[in-house]
Amino acid sequence: MEIKVDNITLRNWKLSDLENLVTYANNKKIADNLTDAFPHPYNKTDGKKFISSVSKDEPLKVFAIVINDEACGAVGVFVQKDIYRKNAEIGYWLAEKYWGKGIMTKIIIRVIEYGFETWDIVRIFAKPFGSNIASHRVLEKAGMKFEARLQNVVIKNGQLKDEFIYSILKRK
Ligand SMILES: CC(C)(COP(=O)(O)OP(=O)(O)OC[C@H]1O[C@@H](n2cnc3c(N)ncnc32)[C@H](O)[C@@H]1OP(=O)(O)O)[C@@H](O)C(=O)NCCC(=O)NCCS
Repeated sequence: MEIKVDNITLRNWKLSDLENLVTYANNKKIADNLTDAFPHPYNKTDGKKFISSVSKDEPLKVFAIVINDEACGAVGVFVQKDIYRKNAEIGYWLAEKYWGKGIMTKIIIRVIEYGFETWDIVRIFAKPFGSNIASHRVLEKAGMKFEARLQNVVIKNGQLKDEFIYSILKRK
């Protein structure tokens, strides 16, 4: 499964992406904005575990973001369970060298479409930290609405942090 967004390709992760993955994921500025499931430092063992855990999903949940033949980021759609099963959470990161060029905004717009066409869901949400202004902007530019600020709900690197909730509903 492959999705094209201009010169960007979204496709499944492959073991041959390992070197690029470790190069770009091993960045504290990225890890600082994600959950602790994303390790720092990020080594080859972490990369192998990640690739084997996401590459076989059908339909695909986690895509490699490929630019100039290099895997340089990840974006995922995670359908929730039980009473939340009509919702999916999105998560994402991009190699620092590509920041600030509108790339993630384009990707999120396309991934929202993918989520709604692939699963029987009505709402897609994201939960950036309150301090993650770049991510807030991406979500706003992608048409998502700010819903809530959960105060001190996160502890990251020993610091309490707020979390913002953004969502978009499926058009009827
Ligand atoms: C968040 C992230 C994916 C953004 O990707 P990107 O391709 O650079 O995003 P875009 O270029 O589409 O948009 C970024 C916007 O944030 C703005 N921005 C970035 N840093 C900012 C800051 N410190 N203050 C204000 N605005 C900022 C940019 O100017 C741009 O907005 P604009 O188009 O209105 O000028 C990328 O920074 C990243 O991977 N960060 C680390 C991991 C992460 O935070 N993941 C998301 C977890 S919820």
